[in-house]
Amino acid sequence: MSKSYRVAILGATGAVGTELLELLENRAFPVAELKLLASERSVGRSLRFNGENILVEPVSDRAFENVDIVLASAGGSTSKTWASVAVEKGAVVIDNSSAFRMNPQVPLVVPEVNPQAAANHQGIIANPNCTTILMTVAVWPLHQIKPVQRIVASTYQSASGAGARAMAEVKTQTSAILQGQRPVAEVLPYPLAFNLFPHNSPLNDLGYCEEEMKMVNETRKIFSSQQIKITATCVRVPVLRAHSEAINLEFATPFSVDAAKEILTSAPGVKLVEDWKNNHFPMPIEATGQDEVLVGRIRQDISHPCGLELWLCGDQIRKGAALNAIQIAELLVEKNLLKPLVTSH
Ligand code: A2P
Repeated sequence: MSKSYRVAILGATGAVGTELLELLENRAFPVAELKLLASERSVGRSLRFNGENILVEPVSDRAFENVDIVLASAGGSTSKTWASVAVEKGAVVIDNSSAFRMNPQVPLVVPEVNPQAAANHQGIIANPNCTTILMTVAVWPLHQIKPVQRIVASTYQSASGAGARAMAEVKTQTSAILQGQRPVAEVLPYPLAFNLFPHNSPLNDLGYCEEEMKMVNETRKIFSSQQIKITATCVRVPVLRAHSEAINLEFATPFSVDAAKEILTSAPGVKLVEDWKNNHFPMPIEATGQDEVLVGRIRQDISHPCGLELWLCGDQIRKGAALNAIQIAELLVEKNLLKPLVTSH
């Protein structure tokens, strides 16, 4: 006996939305009906799902009627407007925006790390920030063996984090520069092609940008540990769709490199990529399209006896966003945390 669910994707035409669509199909999520929602700009477009063309609808109150799960990826302000409408109409919203992540009533879930948190949902479950998801998948298994005391993260974030239009802009800028023209920046604040810049999210009084504070605050919430000291520097780099992160971890006592490798070899959602002989380690180009977070260059921190260094790459659109959201939906199904619509044999 199998149950299936009425699903809506809010932001279906975006970079994450199209990946959500592909993952629902490829992972054979039990979809009874699928609604594709976007802005008025996309009215008239259709997208393919399981061999059918589905028309994109403009988001509206009525669009959330008779929906069990909303996968939302249309930005924070759109989520703030529509998530409560969808919940009122009986749906569970898995929200990819930052709108509800730090709300104490809203679970913030990485299924490899804190699946149990999903059970406490009151209609909305938040998908963490992409850099946070990738880091927590790699650090959590080590934290289980010896609690990490301090994390220093430096990120190298691809254009995909700023959406489909940012990815297109980098391509256009690249060809403009190659033809001797000036690159135009409209989506991102500066030209990204052949360049990089510190993440352009708003800065706080301490000089940290929002993206950096997401890594700090979201990781503490996901790990249920306010004691961990975390600092981050987030940088946008001219890579299309996978993020990289250099992570320094400090423990109370030394953590052997061999033990860390052994743990990460069998950790869920992690793939160890280390070929020291050929100097081959995780690269965004190899992480692209993969479900796992690629981790490598695990080494003793020579500046601290209890420190470990590691390097990771993960597909920002996939595990950093769409896949994590689908895994949360799968968890809700598995744990019977949704109302089933259709029962078939
Ligand atoms: P649209 O394509 O109609 O603009 P990305 O993160 O790749 O930029 O994608 C953002 C997604 O969110 C797109 O599907 C976009 O739809 C959708 N979106 C943006 N603003 C709104 C809005 N105000 N209402 C509904 N959907 C929106």
